[in-house]
Amino acid sequence: MAKTAVVVGSSWGDEGKGRAIDELAKNADTVVRFSGGSNAGHCVVVDGEEYKLRLIPSGILYPNKTCVIANGVVFDPQVFFEEIDSLRARGVETADIKVSNRAHVVLPYHKIIDELNEEMRGAGKIGTTKRGIGPAYMDRDDRIGIRVCDLIDREEFAAKLKDLLEYKNLILTKVFNREPLSYEEILREYEGYAERLRPYVCDTIALLNEQIDAGKKILFEGAQATMLDIDFGTYPYVTASHPVSGGVCIGAGIAPQKIGTVIGVVKAYMTRVGEGPFPTEQLNETGEKLRAVGHEFGTVTGRPRRTGWLDACVIRYAAQLSGIDYMTVTKLDVLDSFDEIKLCVAYKLNGQIINEIPASLKILAQVEPVYETFAGWNCDTSKIRRYEDLPANAKKYLERLAEVTGIKLGIISVGPNRDQTIVVEENIF
Ligand code: GDP
Ligand code: IMO
Ligand code: MG
Repeated sequence: MAKTAVVVGSSWGDEGKGRAIDELAKNADTVVRFSGGSNAGHCVVVDGEEYKLRLIPSGILYPNKTCVIANGVVFDPQVFFEEIDSLRARGVETADIKVSNRAHVVLPYHKIIDELNEEMRGAGKIGTTKRGIGPAYMDRDDRIGIRVCDLIDREEFAAKLKDLLEYKNLILTKVFNREPLSYEEILREYEGYAERLRPYVCDTIALLNEQIDAGKKILFEGAQATMLDIDFGTYPYVTASHPVSGGVCIGAGIAPQKIGTVIGVVKAYMTRVGEGPFPTEQLNETGEKLRAVGHEFGTVTGRPRRTGWLDACVIRYAAQLSGIDYMTVTKLDVLDSFDEIKLCVAYKLNGQIINEIPASLKILAQVEPVYETFAGWNCDTSKIRRYEDLPANAKKYLERLAEVTGIKLGIISVGPNRDQTIVVEENIF
C-alpha cells in the first residue's frame, strides 16, 4: 500500500481539516493541496497561536516538510504572497513550497465576476466566498484559463492577458454595466508576482510521483467538503471543484492505486456557511448555543455559520464517495454542556425511510431527519487524552456514530490546540 493518505471534509466544510492535517502531518514528508483555492480557511492552533491558512498546506507549520500546491488548485498569487509574508513575519519557514506549473491562475476579473454573479442571482445567491473560485474554474473548463506556466513566461502572459481581457471587459461593460479593467495595471501587478513566483514553480505531478515511488509519506489536504462537491453536493449550492478523495487523482496527477488511507474529518455536530439545504439545521436556541460555544464564524469571510445536529446520512454518503477508512471526530468538547445530543440516522420522505440523498433540492427540502437522542455528559472533556477516560455517554455517542456510518474512529479532538487530541487508533498514517 502506498504511503499516502487523503484527508477529506465529510459534510459542508470547516470540520477541522486543518487541525486534522496538523496532527497527521507530524509523520508526513509532504503535504499537498489538490483542489479549491483561497476559499478554504484552515485554522490551526499551535501553543495557543492561531494560524489561518487559505492556500498554503497546513503542513507548513512544521519545519522540513515539502508543501505542494498541485494542479487542481486555482491559484491566487496575491493571497499566496500575503500568506507567505504573514507566515514569515511570525517566524514560520516557507522555503520548501512548490506550486504546480499547471495550476490555473485567479485573476482580478474572476473575483469581480464572482461578486457580480452573486449580485445578479439575488435571492438565489450561492453565498460564495467571492474569491473568484467559480469563475476561475469556468475559464479552465472553457479552455481560456491562464496557467502558472503561462504566468511565469513574460511574453506568453502579456499576449494571453491582452486577448482575454478584451473579452472579460466586454462582459464587465456590456453585461454588468461596469468600468473596464486596465490591462497595464493587471500586467504590472502579475509580472511582479511572476518574478517572485518562479523559484516555487515546478512539475508537481513528476515530483509527487517520484516521491511516492521513493516511499515518501504524502498527505493530501482536502479543502471544502463532500456536500460542496460540484457533482456530489447540493448543486447548485456547491463549490466548483471535487473535494472528495477521487479529486486527488485529477487534482494532483496521482493514480487511484497510489491512494492509501482515506481519513474523513467529522465535526461532532454540523455546520454550513453559505446558502443551500441543511436537513439537520437547528434554527433555534440549540443552534445558537452550538454557534456560540463552537465559535462558528467563517475563517475567510467571518460569516456566522449555520449550525445543526450531526447527520449520519451525509457522513455515510461521504464514506461511500471517498472510501473513508477512519474518521477524526473534532470539537467533541463543544458538546460538553448539552443535556441532550441528537444524531440523525436516517431520512424519511413521505413517511418512508429512504437510503439515498435526494438529488433534487426540492425533494431534499422535504426529507425529515430521523433522530436518535443521547444523554449528554455534562463535564469538561478538554483535558482528556485517552479514549478510555472519556465519559461513558460521550463514548456511547461516538460508538453509535461509528456503527451507523461504518467508519472506524481514528482520532478525536477535544480542543483547538495541537495537544488536545485523543488517538483511538495508532498509526493510521
Ligand atoms: P477546516 O476548514 O475544516 O480546516 O476547519 P476550520 O479551521 O475552518 O474550522 C474549524 C475550527 O474549529 C477552527 O477554528 C479550529 O481551531 C477549531 N477546532 C478544531 N478542532 C477543535 C476541537 O476539537 N475543539 C474545539 N473547541 N475547536 C476545534
Ligand atoms: P474549508 O476548506 C465552508 C462554500 C461557500 C459557498 C460555496 C461556494 O475551510 O472547509 P465558493 O467561494 O467556493 O464558490 O463558494 O461553498 N465554501 C465553504 N464552506 N468551508 C469552506 O472551505 C468552503 N469553501 C467554499 O460558503 O456556500
Ligand atoms: Mg474552514
